[in-house]
Amino acid sequence: MRVLLFTGKGGVGKSTIAAGTAALAAESGMRTLVLSTDAAHSLADAFAVEVGAEPTTVADRLWVQQVDAQKRFEQSWAAIQRYLLSVLDVAGVDPVAAEELTVIPGAEEVLALLELRHQAQLGDYDVIVVDCAPTAETLRLLALPEALGWYMSRVFPMQRRVVKALNPVLTRAAGVPMPEDTVFGALERLHGELDEVRALLTGPGASVRLVLTPENVVLAEARRSYTTLSLFGYRVDGVVANRVFPRDDADEWRGGWVRAQDEVLARVRESFHGLPVWESAYRSTEPVGAAALVALARSAYDGADPVAPPTGSEPLTVTRDGRGSVLRLALPHVTSSDVDLARNGDELVMTVGAYRRLLTLPTGLAQHRIVGARVDQGELQVRFEERATP
Ligand SMILES: Nc1ncnc2c1ncn2[C@@H]1O[C@H](COP(=O)(O)OP(=O)(O)OP(=O)(O)O)[C@@H](O)[C@H]1O
Ligand SMILES: [Mg+2]
Repeated sequence: MRVLLFTGKGGVGKSTIAAGTAALAAESGMRTLVLSTDAAHSLADAFAVEVGAEPTTVADRLWVQQVDAQKRFEQSWAAIQRYLLSVLDVAGVDPVAAEELTVIPGAEEVLALLELRHQAQLGDYDVIVVDCAPTAETLRLLALPEALGWYMSRVFPMQRRVVKALNPVLTRAAGVPMPEDTVFGALERLHGELDEVRALLTGPGASVRLVLTPENVVLAEARRSYTTLSLFGYRVDGVVANRVFPRDDADEWRGGWVRAQDEVLARVRESFHGLPVWESAYRSTEPVGAAALVALARSAYDGADPVAPPTGSEPLTVTRDGRGSVLRLALPHVTSSDVDLARNGDELVMTVGAYRRLLTLPTGLAQHRIVGARVDQGELQVRFEERATP
């Protein structure tokens, strides 16, 4: 199954391009679902139909789903939130403020992606297209299960046993309710599910497409997203430049725009060297309805298969040579000085700007020592030596 995610700055045309790509895939014979995790009903608007929380068919082989993030959120988060609320209640926090404190920004959006896992497991579709929230925040939050992996596998089960044994004693002594076992159960289940979502989104059938408009500020953000997505192991397999002014018969005003956009487009191709950059023309009307969306996508992909399997190397690879092993991670647009590396037991802590990834080292490397690291041509290379760490 193919999973395609569309992200980019607010308003650049993510929903339109996601919907168009899905409609084109369906037309070419693939059973396609396009889902949005965003509360605004933009997919419904793009297709000009009513769309519910369950997949709704809008054309042959094409389904649209507007995930009810609130419902999902309540289902998965309820037990944990109840516990947090009871703790805050004991601490004397006003219930309304407490309610707000237990809401994690972006959490709804992440939980909405659980629906993607659910649909993938049902196996009813050949392609699932996801219209993501602006910026890479969601995908960054999905790094959470990876970061919590160590805690969840070692500390968590122990803590759970201890709390279970001491619960009555502690509750009486401290006055603060100890988490019930259902809270641990809920956390564990949520962790497992998020881990599966992440596995699906970083797996061989998944890729991210960046949507942008040919403007310098938009490009700057897309470049940063490319770095961040790569850091977290997501594979970017193409860029869609949307709202490109048609070159033919341009008057003076449009001619000015065409020249300005051409300059940015050249920088786009340079920034995403090696990736296809598809251009989607600025239409004279809003592309609404399946037919208009197919037309838009068809001209943008210009004969290319919109759901072709992603090409190129895996985002993260480990190779061995005579001297040891080298871990390689695609990390475009950074230099060695932008990257901070640290080792924490069997984890590699990689920091780029405000973003940090805790990567659990593959078993083959966990015992080895890091002897060097560098960034070369958009790739982070970390060299490990076969010598065991003291
Ligand atoms: N190529 C195009 N030509 C003309 N209109 C377009 C084009 N692409 C998108 N639009 C219009 O621009 C508006 C914004 O597009 P869209 O909703 O797809 O953006 P978005 O990136 O999903 O926005 P948001 O960040 O709010 O989710 C819509 O009204 C859409 O119909
Ligand atoms: Mg949108």
